Amino acid sequence: MSNHYTRVAIVLHWLIGLSIIGLLILGLTMEDFPADYRKTAYMIHKSLGLSVLVLSLFRLIWRLTHPVPALPSDMKVWEKFAAHAVHAGLYFLMIALPLTGWALVSSSPRGFPTIWFGLFEWPPLPVLSEIVNKKEVSHSFANIHEILAWIAISLILLHLGAALKHHFITRDGILVRMLPFLKPLSLTKKDM
Ligand code: HEM
Ligand code: HEM
Repeated sequence: MSNHYTRVAIVLHWLIGLSIIGLLILGLTMEDFPADYRKTAYMIHKSLGLSVLVLSLFRLIWRLTHPVPALPSDMKVWEKFAAHAVHAGLYFLMIALPLTGWALVSSSPRGFPTIWFGLFEWPPLPVLSEIVNKKEVSHSFANIHEILAWIAISLILLHLGAALKHHFITRDGILVRMLPFLKPLSLTKKDM
């Protein structure tokens, strides 16, 4: 056990976390973009999403090889369980969301190539680009992608709510260890 997050873990948390929030907003709105901007919006969504996949795989390896700080000992057992369950769910979604996105474009009958930020072609997932019933398969992956996105929105709201509760109500420094430049709120005599 350590008493702080490594700098790498903190940078990856915010890089991936803010990208995912952006991807959720872009994903839910890009279909309604004016025709002139729609293609670029899809290109950015796919490119940023694939970058999140690579960063998340690295983050997962980092997490498994570097200790993280323990939760405060005065947290109730169910609270610790809920925190660990939400974190595990978020790690799963960080990988599963971009993978299903990649799978849905790889099996799309439209067959548009994915050009990563306009720079080079990102290959389709090998098996999926060769299947026969492309339309049905691509549709199923699009449905799973959407369901996972809504689960992500729910878990992120829970996660954000918990972080704010720890900072403003419990005042136990949990938010500060992920946002080190923030000033910790200490308990005053009046609160005790
Ligand atoms: C919305 C703003 C966010 C805030 C304020 C926030 C805050 C925090 C804080 C304070 C922790 C540390 C918990 C601890 O010390 O035990 C944490 C951990 C974590 N956050 Fe966030 N977070 C945010 C967004 C996200 C997003 C969007 C994701 C991913 C989709 C995410 C994934 C995680 C994960 C997986 C951990 C556990 C890290 C570990 O112990 O391995 N967070 N977050
Ligand atoms: C963490 C990463 C990602 C997040 C959070 C995310 C989120 C979303 C969301 C919220 C939607 C709208 C769902 C709907 O209303 O149907 C969407 C759609 C879409 N996403 Fe992603 N996405 C991610 C990664 C990817 C990747 C890596 C690709 C492709 C390489 C991709 C391709 C698409 C496509 C093509 C659509 C439109 C699907 C349709 O027209 O039915 N996404 N995404």
